[in-house]
Amino acid sequence: MDISKELEIIITEDGSSSLRRKDLGEGYHSTHGAIAESEHIFINSGLRYFHKQHPKKRINILEIGFGTGLNAILSLDFAISQNQEIYYETVEKYPLNDDIISSLNYGKIIGKEEDFLKIHSVAWNKEVEINKNFSLKKIDSSAEEINYKEDFFDIIYFDAFAPAFEEKLWQETMFSKLYASLKGKGILSTYCCKGDVKRALKSSGFIIEKLPGPKGKREILRALKP
Ligand SMILES: C[S@@+](CC[C@H](N)C(=O)[O-])C[C@H]1O[C@@H](n2cnc3c(N)ncnc32)[C@H](O)[C@@H]1O
Repeated sequence: MDISKELEIIITEDGSSSLRRKDLGEGYHSTHGAIAESEHIFINSGLRYFHKQHPKKRINILEIGFGTGLNAILSLDFAISQNQEIYYETVEKYPLNDDIISSLNYGKIIGKEEDFLKIHSVAWNKEVEINKNFSLKKIDSSAEEINYKEDFFDIIYFDAFAPAFEEKLWQETMFSKLYASLKGKGILSTYCCKGDVKRALKSSGFIIEKLPGPKGKREILRALKP
C-alpha cells in the first residue's frame, strides 16, 4: 500500500523532522522532539541500559515499526561510539518512498548522513552489513504475521502505531510471540503505558517497569523477560 499521499512532513521542537499520517491523524514521533524522544525511550532506557548491565560481544535488536529509520540510525551511532557489534532486525508494514526519506534530517543532525541513506537504500528481507559494527535486516511485512526466531533477541523496540490504530499488535498473542523471541534478561521498550497494554505484557510473562517519559509524556514502559 502506497501511503505517501497520506504523509505530511513536520519539524519537531528539537529541530528534527518527523512524519504525520493525515488519514489516521497520528504522528510518528512526539512533536516535542523526534530525536529527543527516540533517544530517551529506545536508546537510553533500552540499548544503553541493557549494554551497561550485560556487556557482550553482539547485541541483537528487533524493532517493530521501522518507519523513518530514526531508531536504527541512533542505534548505529551508539554501536560506533561504543565499538559495540549490533544486529538490527526491523519490520515495517508501510515502507516510505525516496522523496519522503530525502526530506528527513536525522543523518545531517547526527553527522551520519551517508549511513542514514545506506540504511534506507539497502535491500529488504536480507541481512546486510552497514559497517563493521552494524548489520541490518529490514522486513516489509505486518509485524503480527512474522514468526520470530525464538530465544534470539536481547532488546525489542516496540514502536508501532498506537493501539487505537494497530490493536492486534498490542495484544497478548503478539506479546507472547515477542516474549518467546527474547533471550532471558532481554527487554522490550515502548512509549505506551496504557492499562490494557500493561496487562497484556504481564499475561505474556513480562515484568514491567514504569519509567519517566520524555518531554510531553509522563511515563514509558520497560518490560523484562526474567
Ligand atoms: C510510531 S511510527 C514509528 C516508526 C519508527 N520507529 C520511526 O522512528 O520512524 C510506527 C511505525 O509502525 C509502522 N506500522 C504500523 N503498523 C504496523 C504493523 N502492523 N506491522 C509493522 N509496522 C507497522 C508504521 O507504518 C510506522 O512506520
